[in-house]
Amino acid sequence: MRGKSVLLIIGGGIAAYKSLELIRQLKTRGCGVRAILTQAGTEFVTPLSVASLSGEKVFSDLFSLTDEAEMGHIQLSRSADLVVVAPATADLMAKLANGLANDLASTALLATDKPVLMAPAMNVRMWNHAATQRNLATLKKDGVLFVGPNDGEMACGEYGPGRMAEPAEIAAAIETYFASGGRTLEVRAPDGALNGLRALVTAGPTQEPIDPVRFIANRSSGKQGYAIADALARAGAETTLVSGPVEIAPPAGVRLLKVTTAREMLAACESALPADIAVMTAAVADWRPEVALNSKIKKEAGAAAPSIRMAENPDILATLARHATRPGLLIGFAAETDDVIAHAQAKLKKKGCDWIVANDVSPATGIMGGDKNTVHIVTAGGVEDWPEMPKSEVGTRLAARIADAVRGKAA
Ligand code: CTP
Repeated sequence: MRGKSVLLIIGGGIAAYKSLELIRQLKTRGCGVRAILTQAGTEFVTPLSVASLSGEKVFSDLFSLTDEAEMGHIQLSRSADLVVVAPATADLMAKLANGLANDLASTALLATDKPVLMAPAMNVRMWNHAATQRNLATLKKDGVLFVGPNDGEMACGEYGPGRMAEPAEIAAAIETYFASGGRTLEVRAPDGALNGLRALVTAGPTQEPIDPVRFIANRSSGKQGYAIADALARAGAETTLVSGPVEIAPPAGVRLLKVTTAREMLAACESALPADIAVMTAAVADWRPEVALNSKIKKEAGAAAPSIRMAENPDILATLARHATRPGLLIGFAAETDDVIAHAQAKLKKKGCDWIVANDVSPATGIMGGDKNTVHIVTAGGVEDWPEMPKSEVGTRLAARIADAVRGKAA
């Protein structure tokens, strides 16, 4: 994205606050941002905050002589490589679909010769309204690109489609758009790219019992592993997901094997071999209580606190790496809190896998349990740094990267 620039049109919707974060994410990736704030947009965010984050003057008045003297609205509309509308309100969509131009934002949209990307945000009934859907179809036919809206809880208390895509999702789409030379917003494996291949994915924590009511576990949510299994299955792989205890609905078309302990997880993985692809995202407990007691440990008056002797659990990734039927492409994850890349490179060698997907799980990152992730793909050939993106997008991109590798296009 370095050297690219975006003209960001901020419409008047509650999601406008997310556009501030979008500006920050684009700037961090080296992309220039110049913003137009609609009149309604100023009700939600101030020109000062937009200007401070973008480091550029903010434009909002079509008839401002100063602005026209500095830069005409036609020139402004063509100054960037891409015009992004976020939030794209029902009003802005309707204006562009019908060719209206009665303010700076709608005039710039009509005058531009650059591609336009909209991130719609509105109430679910407004989104589902026949008029909005008609405008959406027209805009798509005219070549306007869309990211979102997502399903979810709305600021108005209703639930459904209409939530603006997250800033990380919009920034990732823009990055992909530039990286692909304007061909696509999404990196995903072509349909059927993994047809005829078998994939194995582990996800979630393991629970290691102390007694019938207590166990040792960790904070893994399983979200990343489930997203990867989903993406591999969508790309056509016959996918088995071996999951520790988590509360996520299994992805469609995936065979789910639920387990509790590390030893059960290993047995389930071995039962799923042979596999062409294996992605080990599970946060397997390294140790378990040596004995799991059959009855609950009681607190006796005056007795000392119990101490728990630990035994080492099997390393599932390392076991598969040495297995007689080793998966063709074996990928491990590395959850680190410091020296992320150095530790991941050491882990690649120690575990004998082909790639390590490394991420920083320090509490400040919010990755453990959160919806976003920033990963680095570490292979014998080098390190790829991926920008922050939703875990679903990490899944889709990883499936695409895997499809390239197994089809012989990349190491
Ligand atoms: N892993 C595994 N079995 C284990 C421990 C880890 O299969 N008993 C896998 C994880 O699924 C992950 C990779 O090994 O793909 C790295 O896990 P991580 O917890 O980061 O590494 P550890 O080997 O446990 O090293 P450390 O805790 O010292 O960082």
